[in-house]
Amino acid sequence: MESTSILHEIKVTPVTRSRVKEVDFTKLGFGKVFSDHMLVADYVNGQWQQPEIIPFQPISISPSNSTLHYGQAIFEGLKAYRTQQGDVVIFRPYDNFKRFNLSADRMDMPAVPEEIFIEGMKKLVDLDRAWVPGQPDSSLYIRPFMIAMDEYIGVRSSLRYRFMIITSPAGAYYNKPVKLYVQDKYVRAFPGGTGFAKTAGNYAASLKPTREVQEMGYDQILWTDGIHHRYLQECGTMNVFVVIGDTAITPDLTEGTILAGVTRSSVITLLHDEGIQVEERPISIDEVIRAHQEGQLKEIFGTGTAASISYVSELTYRDHHIVFDISQWKISPAILQKLNDIKVGKLPDRYGWNVRV
Ligand code: COI
Repeated sequence: MESTSILHEIKVTPVTRSRVKEVDFTKLGFGKVFSDHMLVADYVNGQWQQPEIIPFQPISISPSNSTLHYGQAIFEGLKAYRTQQGDVVIFRPYDNFKRFNLSADRMDMPAVPEEIFIEGMKKLVDLDRAWVPGQPDSSLYIRPFMIAMDEYIGVRSSLRYRFMIITSPAGAYYNKPVKLYVQDKYVRAFPGGTGFAKTAGNYAASLKPTREVQEMGYDQILWTDGIHHRYLQECGTMNVFVVIGDTAITPDLTEGTILAGVTRSSVITLLHDEGIQVEERPISIDEVIRAHQEGQLKEIFGTGTAASISYVSELTYRDHHIVFDISQWKISPAILQKLNDIKVGKLPDRYGWNVRV
């Protein structure tokens, strides 16, 4: 039977010569090297057009493109791994797909159909499978994104959009534990805002505050809430977990100010399965400081796709300065190991997280 799916009409224009042999996969860093191909799909006249896979290349946009002025732009981050069985798998792509369309809705952009987002992604990763690193702590970072395409500088939602996927072989995002500074001069998000959406402006607004703490010798900000300036939100671009006593606590998502991280959700599942109590609830910086003073603050770590699990080595809040001895930690190293092992097929994936390409 003939299919009417957009996907079956996907047009592939391959590169004439792959660049993969020119890349040193032992020195990748993060986000600097891009694979041979990219996927492009345009939305015009209220409809998604046939997606195409073409060689990675610059795109041409008008200086009046509304994204450049008003930031109607969203993105996702997910990863493909080479398993020890020799397969290429994408980690939890359906979760990123759902979140992408939640971000699209908040930014008044059209939803991207599954057959473009998921099937297009699989086809792209399959074509560039030679770019999926096999080295430990490495992966193919996948960056789907959507921008407004109207050539118009009046302020309104665009009528035309472009969805694209680019991929980048990547090593560790942070190559050491991070030092956090609790910055309550700036806020990342507030109820009713865009904190739960993966939209460009959230990241743009974090740049100056982050540079300021980096100039003070820290790596990232531990963001607090926009109303009380007390409740923990995210650290840098990651969700945050605090282990107090035997319980792992992470801020809940109910206010809509925090990104619903896919790694956050995976870590919660793995913690439960290890028999560790997890609480998703508001947690204030005062509670963290008090737990430290009482000798109950065991671990703090961030979770995110790019960084996976990132240990926090130091935390500063006003005149409180906490230094951790990470060598004593039990919980986050065990969870990180388990998560990594599932991704690369060393442990069975009984959650159905890995999607084969
Ligand atoms: C991710 O973990 O994918 C992120 O959102 C970080 C990214 C902005 C580099």
